[in-house]
Amino acid sequence: MADLIDGRAIARQLDEETKAAVDDLVAAGHAAPGLTVILVGDDPASEIYVRRKIAACERVGIRSSKHTLPASTTQDALLTLIARLNADPEVHGILCQVPLPEHIDTGKVLGAIVPEKDVDGFHPVNVGRLSTGTGGIVPCTPLGVMKLLATVVDDFTGKDVVVIGKSNIVGKPVANLLLDAEATVTVTHIYTEGLAEICRQADIIVAAAGAPRLVKGHWVKDGAIIIDVGITRVAGENGKDRLVGDVAFDEVQHAAAVTPVPGGVGPMTIACLLSNTVKAARAAYGIDTNVSNHGMDREERAMLTGSGARPN
Ligand code: GUN
Repeated sequence: MADLIDGRAIARQLDEETKAAVDDLVAAGHAAPGLTVILVGDDPASEIYVRRKIAACERVGIRSSKHTLPASTTQDALLTLIARLNADPEVHGILCQVPLPEHIDTGKVLGAIVPEKDVDGFHPVNVGRLSTGTGGIVPCTPLGVMKLLATVVDDFTGKDVVVIGKSNIVGKPVANLLLDAEATVTVTHIYTEGLAEICRQADIIVAAAGAPRLVKGHWVKDGAIIIDVGITRVAGENGKDRLVGDVAFDEVQHAAAVTPVPGGVGPMTIACLLSNTVKAARAAYGIDTNVSNHGMDREERAMLTGSGARPN
């Protein structure tokens, strides 16, 4: 049986660290970190995600506020709100839930959030910093993937990693983080020819294609480590919906370790949002202004990537 990488337990541990960091800030006389979430329209999945994010803030002592705007909101109105939040010193993190209604240019809106408050790590400046290894805020799901992997991998140097999925939110940033950790990274996607054979070489597979049960048992070599980022709602036989990952979980028990769906990457995404918010607040307060570490502090980065100067 493959070991389960328990994302819920690891997220709880990270939340405890985040809560302690919040308490330290408050004890030092600062206002608790503040996160503002913007929800436009009434997409039911987005409403659930936003509710979870706000509830998570409460658990660790982050101040949160929510702006719920109708689907008819104009792009200008949204940009005006973001400009106000950018200028508000009590707001350390701004998250605009996507997808946005079709009449709104998502890139323009996400790019309007100042990079220092972009706790999603979606702003082109943060994307550029990540890809050049010059700091910035790391997107939550890729950061969560690295933290899960760090519980089962001591050293990524030379490890053969296959990333399936090339999204801006997961595939590309996670590939950058793994490259920085000295892994040999192959980025693939659902149109990659010979995907099964490519995966069979991998020490680590990060499946983030959004394709239910794409990764079959025979794609996985004995002792591999699998992180399943996919989460798709499918109709179950009993008439109830269920959540399915990108990996045929029951077929990969010859792996060394695998994340479940649900209960793997999902909880880490929210935990990393909270820790990004605290990091943004600390930077705003002039603590830890060293942002040349991919939004990770020195110790965290050393743990995830191995420290020390090396040739490229
Ligand atoms: N929609 C689904 N996931 C996310 C996320 O992580 N951030 C934002 N802003 N919107 C999302």
